[in-house]
Amino acid sequence: MNMTLTIFETPHVSVREWSLQDVDSYFKLAANPLVMRYISEPIKDPLQALEAIKRRHRDYATRGYGRYAVVEKSSGKVIGLTGLRYDSDIDCVDVAIWLLPDYWGNGLGTEILIECFSFCFDRLALKRVVGIVDPLNGASKRILEKCGMIFLGIIDYHGEKCELYSIFKI
Ligand SMILES: CC(C)(COP(=O)(O)OP(=O)(O)OC[C@H]1O[C@@H](n2cnc3c(N)ncnc32)[C@H](O)[C@@H]1OP(=O)(O)O)[C@@H](O)C(=O)NCCC(=O)NCCS
Repeated sequence: MNMTLTIFETPHVSVREWSLQDVDSYFKLAANPLVMRYISEPIKDPLQALEAIKRRHRDYATRGYGRYAVVEKSSGKVIGLTGLRYDSDIDCVDVAIWLLPDYWGNGLGTEILIECFSFCFDRLALKRVVGIVDPLNGASKRILEKCGMIFLGIIDYHGEKCELYSIFKI
């Protein structure tokens, strides 16, 4: 049993902090070329998953939020990642949602992001959250829009042209 802090729940998943026992699950996700296609190079080594989880822990400690594990309630399996990261390059908090491919296409990404925005605005009292998306990532652009994000324009992000989406606390 993984005793980690639950951040929020939706009908189908719990979203909780990553634990050091999640290395295999994190690796399965971030090493998957389909998941990482529009995000970054898939990781190659479980040690990189361990380092990533430690970075997530530093964010929880310094910012009070971070990227979290998505756990399917019915199976208890880690099936994705969601949550926030402060990006000092653009001075914004950005949102992410990654799911294992078996879980795509059923509305789950939208279900999780909507609740994630409630967490951002109602509990963290953030004023604004952004999404930075590869222009070719059609599913990602679609769910950001379905969850109320607005397309602001194209930005140069680490040498790549990316689409910037934003949502504001009303
Ligand atoms: C992005 C992601 C989370 C979407 O999850 P999901 O559970 O499939 O999302 P949903 O089912 O809630 O919604 C997907 C929407 O995108 C649409 N869609 C899927 N593929 C698409 C494509 N290639 N182009 C345009 N729209 C697409 C779906 O039809 C659906 O819209 P609809 O409800 O209007 O029909 C999932 O594809 C994923 O994990 N991708 C890999 C990681 C990633 O790229 N994350 C985004 C960047 S952080």
